[in-house]
Amino acid sequence: MTRVVLATAYGGPEVLTVVDQPVGDPGPGQARVEVRAAGVNPADWKSYTGAFGTDPAALPKRLGFEVSGVVTAVGPGVALAVGDEVIGFRVSGGYAAELVVPASALVPKPASLGWEQAAGLMLTGATAVHALTATGVGEGDTVLVHGAAGGVGLMAVQLAALRGARVIGTVGGGGAELVRRFGAGTVRYGDGLADRVRGLAPDGVDAAVDLVGTDEAVDVSLELVADRQRIATIAAFGRAGSEGVRALGAGPGADPGTELRDAARPDLAEAAGAGRLEVVVAATFPLEEVAAAHRQGMAGHTHGKLVLLP
Ligand SMILES: NC(=O)c1ccc[n+]([C@@H]2O[C@H](COP(=O)([O-])OP(=O)(O)OC[C@H]3O[C@@H](n4cnc5c(N)ncnc54)[C@H](OP(=O)(O)O)[C@@H]3O)[C@@H](O)[C@H]2O)c1
Repeated sequence: MTRVVLATAYGGPEVLTVVDQPVGDPGPGQARVEVRAAGVNPADWKSYTGAFGTDPAALPKRLGFEVSGVVTAVGPGVALAVGDEVIGFRVSGGYAAELVVPASALVPKPASLGWEQAAGLMLTGATAVHALTATGVGEGDTVLVHGAAGGVGLMAVQLAALRGARVIGTVGGGGAELVRRFGAGTVRYGDGLADRVRGLAPDGVDAAVDLVGTDEAVDVSLELVADRQRIATIAAFGRAGSEGVRALGAGPGADPGTELRDAARPDLAEAAGAGRLEVVVAATFPLEEVAAAHRQGMAGHTHGKLVLLP
């Protein structure tokens, strides 16, 4: 038996509960992982708050797309060994003390990378890689990152800088210092945003990535970036369709980028292990306090990653 988090109904974090469930043995192509840390992402609470629908047949729901942990058993045909330290992404039901996953979801965890950082690396990192690749961000570009202090934002800021771009990040205040630590300029979002960005980038903005989904982020991107194919959003899927900008991820009409995101995993692990990419952990919570973790995330101003510790 192992402890797993379940959403037993649609609603707020009060629908979350921790129960014991059998974990099972890995079948062909699978491995069992003892979870050391599980990354928390907005998609986790969106899965039970109704943002992605309220199909009663989908209940109860397991949560969690990314973990770090240790292999405890392998099925036939799996080139991993018991004791291997791994990062799992994309997994299903990662909010657990132990789970069985496809071996294809596992990449080696660099020894130098902490469990919490490893658990928070992949979903945000792969999303940021997708956004920067889709908008062609490279050497000499100036890129505007909306929501720079968030989980995806801090990855996009660092990865854009590693590509040789100049980064301007929008922040609400509390995250400005953190974003600037990674070499970006910062501007407050809110009325007058476009003018503040122009003040920092008098020669113009080449690309923009919206990691928040507000009308303001879309409007300011359209105002400042000449080429709509160099604007991407991971959240404003409705606006993307009508404005002709790139929509990325699991939203309606969006490019899921599954292959690109999967392919990004070894490079992300290498960069984080080598210290070129930092996973900022905002807070950790015991698995039993998952509802508190989600309440903090849902408030919308987390700077870095929330991580659960089984
Ligand atoms: N499509 C995909 O593939 C994909 C993948 C991952 C995430 N997402 C989505 O992308 C969004 C961000 O995810 P995340 O993991 O980065 O979330 P997060 O860690 O909770 O960060 C959200 C950030 O948004 C900032 N923010 C809040 N209101 C803002 C506003 N009006 N303008 C600009 N920034 C604002 C907050 O910082 P301040 O303190 O500065 O306000 C906060 O740090 C979520 O909606 C998530 O569901 C989509």
